[in-house]
Amino acid sequence: MGGSAISGDLSRDALGPKISVPFWACRDYSLPPFADRDFLVLASSYSGNTEETLSAYATALERGCAVISLSSGGMLEEFSRSLGIPHLHLPSGMLPRVALPFMLIPILTILNKLGVIPPVEEDVIRTSETLKAILHLNSVETPTVDNSAKKLAVELSGYIPVVYGWRHLSSAAYRLMTDFQENSKVPAKSAVLPEANHNEILGWQASKNLTAIFAVILLRDREEPTEITARIEATRNLILRKRAGKILEMLAEGETNLQKSLSTVYKGLITSYYLAIANRVDPWETGVIDLLKRELEIRLKTKDEVSARIERLKP
Ligand code: F6R
Repeated sequence: MGGSAISGDLSRDALGPKISVPFWACRDYSLPPFADRDFLVLASSYSGNTEETLSAYATALERGCAVISLSSGGMLEEFSRSLGIPHLHLPSGMLPRVALPFMLIPILTILNKLGVIPPVEEDVIRTSETLKAILHLNSVETPTVDNSAKKLAVELSGYIPVVYGWRHLSSAAYRLMTDFQENSKVPAKSAVLPEANHNEILGWQASKNLTAIFAVILLRDREEPTEITARIEATRNLILRKRAGKILEMLAEGETNLQKSLSTVYKGLITSYYLAIANRVDPWETGVIDLLKRELEIRLKTKDEVSARIERLKP
């Protein structure tokens, strides 16, 4: 779920056509009915205590799926240790969404070791160099005039961000949205092309009083496919220009899908911190998520139920 599940989406976008088997992120209490003993389930929860992940993990074990778990501790680690399930212990003390590389890189590495994707080391090293350069260019010390993340945060201040992605930048668009929501504490939305051209665009017909509050960020790529460029331009010129409060762009950096996707995520992440500062909020505060988790734990008692299912799986 949340900051842990996105590493699955971003891995899928980064791999694009390189992956030779179906691969997707599951965000629910259970798994699709077709997930059986031919499936590998990577149960990833940074805290190790998210009830939906624990429940889906128990389902995977009950169905005989191969399972590998990832967490910084919690019940997920306890269960895996007690059942002898391979577990990757993540460094603790971070927010799940900040621990993204610690969850994403192992997923790619596991898929490579299983022979379903080519080696990723070189791509990962080049991606980390791209991200370091982005951080340097957008650091706190870099003045706004030379700092694109600070400039974007200034542009977004007072608006609701709407991020448009496509193909290998689809999950990046979703992650930018959640970073604005979680870090900057503003409502935000995201949409994916070409799908948005078949439904989402009708919402912009509303009165300008409503639509002018949205600032659209179009995710761009120097090597955009022709049909995507055409759709971005048509959407911008025919629809957004008339209605959106602002239209902004963010350019993906690098050559591979991994570099492009993560460079966009990182630019968005840094921007969301500057926007948090502008909004005078603590980007790391997650009180409402924790409150809801506690309330649902009391109401549903899912963890007790999962513990009982895990006990039944012990020899
Ligand atoms: C908090 C965050 C959330 C969590 C989500 C699942 O920083 O980003 O979206 O990731 O509540 O919790 P974990 O990742 O611990 O399974």
